[in-house]
Amino acid sequence: MKKIVVLVSGGGTNLQALIDAQGKGELTGGSITCVVSSNPNAYALKRAEQNGIETEVIRRRDFDSQDQYDEALTALLKGKDADLIVLAGFMTILGKKVISAFENRIINIHPALIPSFCGEGYYGLRVHEEALKKGVKVTGATAHFVNEVCDGGPIILQKAVEVRFGDTPEVLQKRVMEQAEWKILPKAVALFCEDKIKVHGNCTEILE
Ligand code: GRF
Repeated sequence: MKKIVVLVSGGGTNLQALIDAQGKGELTGGSITCVVSSNPNAYALKRAEQNGIETEVIRRRDFDSQDQYDEALTALLKGKDADLIVLAGFMTILGKKVISAFENRIINIHPALIPSFCGEGYYGLRVHEEALKKGVKVTGATAHFVNEVCDGGPIILQKAVEVRFGDTPEVLQKRVMEQAEWKILPKAVALFCEDKIKVHGNCTEILE
């Protein structure tokens, strides 16, 4: 059974989607063993507690440098014996140390179809604002492995979502979450836990 550690900072609806998938028996091969938050007030922590999942808080501001923070986070994740780390709305930058310690074992969910609307500064509502500004008719979400390039790691799954005229960033964000993020993140995690993702350079092969 693979140990899944979920990193969060906010509301945790993607965490909830993972908890629900686990409850429905869709995460065979894995189990959410710990939720780590960068924010002690994150509602995601409550979701974890309500489901009997162990929680930890680690704040960037409690460390003098990115290196020290990175060191501590790596030690925490290794101490939890994590096989897979899931970034589910984790708002703190991961440094080289964590990324190299867990190569192709960190999955992130991005609320757009990479390589559109991604990279430095593209998070939260900004992603949807830019998609609306550009006037795209289709956006979506991407589950991908994390490497040192922001939003640049191997793509695991993507799902398209329709953009409607008159959408606000908030409305579009909600649709992307409901129709794409909450579906492909648990699916990507399940595939990983069943050893069904093979990485070839920057591409992945899904063994189904
Ligand atoms: C989601 O939009 C996700 O794509 C992004 O951060 C947001 C997290 O929302 N990385 P939640 O905390 O899972 O509700």
